[in-house]
Amino acid sequence: MKVTIVGAGNVGATCADVISYRGIASEVVLVDIKEGFAEGKAMDIMQCATTTVFNTQLSGTTGDYSKTAGSDVVVITSGIPRKPGMTREELIGINAGIVKSVADNVLTHSPNAIIVVVSNPMDTMTYLTLKATGLPKNRVIGMGGALDSSRFKYFLSKALDKPANDVQGMVIGGHGDTTMIPLTRLASYNGVPVSNFLSQAELDKVAADTMVGGATLTGLLGTSAWYAPGASVAYLVDSILNDQKRMIPCSVLLEGEYGQEDICMGVPCIIGKNGVEKIVDVQLNDAEKALFAKSAEAVRNMNADLKS
Ligand code: NAI
Repeated sequence: MKVTIVGAGNVGATCADVISYRGIASEVVLVDIKEGFAEGKAMDIMQCATTTVFNTQLSGTTGDYSKTAGSDVVVITSGIPRKPGMTREELIGINAGIVKSVADNVLTHSPNAIIVVVSNPMDTMTYLTLKATGLPKNRVIGMGGALDSSRFKYFLSKALDKPANDVQGMVIGGHGDTTMIPLTRLASYNGVPVSNFLSQAELDKVAADTMVGGATLTGLLGTSAWYAPGASVAYLVDSILNDQKRMIPCSVLLEGEYGQEDICMGVPCIIGKNGVEKIVDVQLNDAEKALFAKSAEAVRNMNADLKS
């Protein structure tokens, strides 16, 4: 199984690293426009093969897409990351041009690939990729909800003082500080609703911390985070390549689901070898439905910026 990762920067290289040491794919190709950068990252990770013990073959290329031929999954992380004080929305113009040309290049050599979009603003970039390529909706998947949900579970586990792996929770909606929706009502500690353990004020704080989770790290690091984003992409790629059929909130084209049309937003999906195999219809209450509609409005406004 072959994976191409376009953008060998922080998120792309971390994803390649996790895919390798977890043996998720047999081959990974990193692509970047910075001369020698992808080659260097691939060589550095390959030199871990005997210490972290893996057999995945990595290589890198400075823009030679023929090396990506026959990829099963292509991850697009190319773009510029958000700088402190910069909103995801401001990234739109620059990253739209990059994502569109990258999608064209990869499909020339891997016409059957499933595309995972990571570049921000991710929901809009996913929508752009879908429209620009004309691919069926199951083959264009935006990664955001996997990361936001893992941050949600982190903050829940801290509030509960319990291991994160015993906590279940999901973030849907847009992948933005003000558009994501941590579903506190449905979160649980080993199947028991977290409202049994946490007050409403504590739950509200968990949701608020989750929503600014990315921005908090950008403030601390001086650039956007990469360990959890890279690992979240690898988790999604694993579910596709190894047909895991995990339920992962992903940004996908909605055609009536959750009351929305012609928009890519985060909803729970079954992810397997065909990409998005099913959109799961979770029954939202009225307050959650209102949040989802508001989130859709914000994503739609951003999509409109794309067209202008
Ligand atoms: P980075 O700057 O470390 O890496 C980006 C890489 O893309 C650079 O090495 C750059 O040379 C390369 N690149 C730029 N244009 C290219 C092109 N046309 N072809 C090939 N390579 C090209 O940035 P980082 O931190 O890895 O973030 C990448 C993107 O992912 C950003 O847009 C960021 O906002 C987004 N992101 C999305 C997340 C999500 O949950 N969806 C989470 C974290 C980051």
